[in-house]
Amino acid sequence: MVNWTKITTNVYVISLFASLGGITFGFDIGSNSGIIGTTQYLTYFDKPSKLLQGGINGSLSAGCFVGALFAGAIADRIGRKYTLIIASALFVIGSLLQSASNGVPMLCVGRVVNGISVGFSSMVIPLYQSEVAPKEIRGRLVAIQQWAITWGIFLAFWIQTGFAQIDGTGAFRGPWAIQAIPALILLGGLWFFPFSPRWLADQGRMDEAIQVLADIHGNGDVNHPRVQEEIKEIQAVIDFDKNVASHRYADLFKPRLAYRVFLGVFLQIWQQLTGMNIIMFYVVLMFKQAGIGGGGQSTTLIASGVNYVVNVVMTVPAILFVDKWGRRPTLIAGAFFMSLFLWLVGGLMKTGDWYIDDNPANTTFGEWVVKFDNDAKVNAIAAMVYLFVGSFATTWGPLGWIYPAEIYPLRVRAMAVSLSTAANWLFNWVLSFMVPYAMQSLRYGLYMLFAGFNFLMMVHVYLAYPETKGYTLEEMDIVFECNPRKKMDPDYLAMRLQEKLNVGVEKLDLPEPAKAEA
Ligand code: BGC
Repeated sequence: MVNWTKITTNVYVISLFASLGGITFGFDIGSNSGIIGTTQYLTYFDKPSKLLQGGINGSLSAGCFVGALFAGAIADRIGRKYTLIIASALFVIGSLLQSASNGVPMLCVGRVVNGISVGFSSMVIPLYQSEVAPKEIRGRLVAIQQWAITWGIFLAFWIQTGFAQIDGTGAFRGPWAIQAIPALILLGGLWFFPFSPRWLADQGRMDEAIQVLADIHGNGDVNHPRVQEEIKEIQAVIDFDKNVASHRYADLFKPRLAYRVFLGVFLQIWQQLTGMNIIMFYVVLMFKQAGIGGGGQSTTLIASGVNYVVNVVMTVPAILFVDKWGRRPTLIAGAFFMSLFLWLVGGLMKTGDWYIDDNPANTTFGEWVVKFDNDAKVNAIAAMVYLFVGSFATTWGPLGWIYPAEIYPLRVRAMAVSLSTAANWLFNWVLSFMVPYAMQSLRYGLYMLFAGFNFLMMVHVYLAYPETKGYTLEEMDIVFECNPRKKMDPDYLAMRLQEKLNVGVEKLDLPEPAKAEA
């Protein structure tokens, strides 16, 4: 007999299953890249102008922004699991609307609905994963979500490229309908997975919280020392938060937490300013501009598609090692390498021969393009772009989601993660509008500008972001009070935690305070 409870309470299974929502996120990022250039799409939707197309694209990220903003309050009220179930249902509806659309308005409605769904799921999945995770592999479990995102982008691109061979509207209806599949699986399966134990505890449903913790970390045994330890910490921190610092959302803007909110929001803004989405959204344009892949339609596509493969493959080291390397070194090294590779892309592009394409037969007619006197340079640019994508995939891709989901106290966690996720989508939206214009007006300077952003974020992380690997979520308050750049002395941490626990919960049967040994 299959023991289903054992399966649905295995933290890896929970994380992998919830990550199906990450695939919908990836579909979302890649939902148009291979479609909007096809004649089937252009004919059916009457050749949308650049501005209208910007609006069609943007309706998705606008939905994401709004969804992310509201998701926090919903996730606190009805729980992480049900928020994700609603997100899945919305994604199915949105995909069907898009797939069946009879014109631009219906298409946009579908995209807004899909966007709201991804706004919900991109906020709630990392939160749920980090709340069920044992502290030692919390980074890894959230990185699985990022991996799913990269799979979604990869699949979207190649599915669209495949469907583009079909004559007629199936070329875009097909890929938009297929998008619904992972959301349908999620919708059907999520019911069997546990609630977040921390959310349950916050709701006062302590017995259920203990049972979930026992199932996921203690082999079903509520007396397992780890479960006992965890539940005491969680209960004590909840009591402390309720009795001593009771304002919940209003706290986000008070000095003690506002700084942390700022760090989370900024990390997500920086994640967009790495420039990764210039490649994810516009690599085909970029490679066309630089004549990479010889300028031929299919070779440019293949050269571009390789980026999505690199993105998937290079997220694996993050899954394996992010909890070993630590957050700070990974973020700092990632920003350094991305900055370097973008400088090289910009520098190499600068040496080319730039001119305005005056051949009306070309898709780049009337736009700035660049020619190089030798293939080595073209290949070098492609290689630098792949290296850049690989650097993002191993570092800022996953950490953009890991870090904000782990730094806030329970009572405001969902709301704070909502804000940082909404910041990510806002910048995602701004960039998706801006980049095609900036590619023309700044040309190679665009890559240098983003190289500069990467350099700044490296400095910012070095100066301001504490190391968070290996601490429980309940220990984060102390971590942020001390702002350590390296791992804190465990005895000191234990002593401080004990001090804090004793304030709010005399009624708990707490172990003797651990002594801080000199
Ligand atoms: C980012 C997306 C990006 C994707 C690329 C995500 O973490 O938030 O904006 O397109 O990674 O893999």
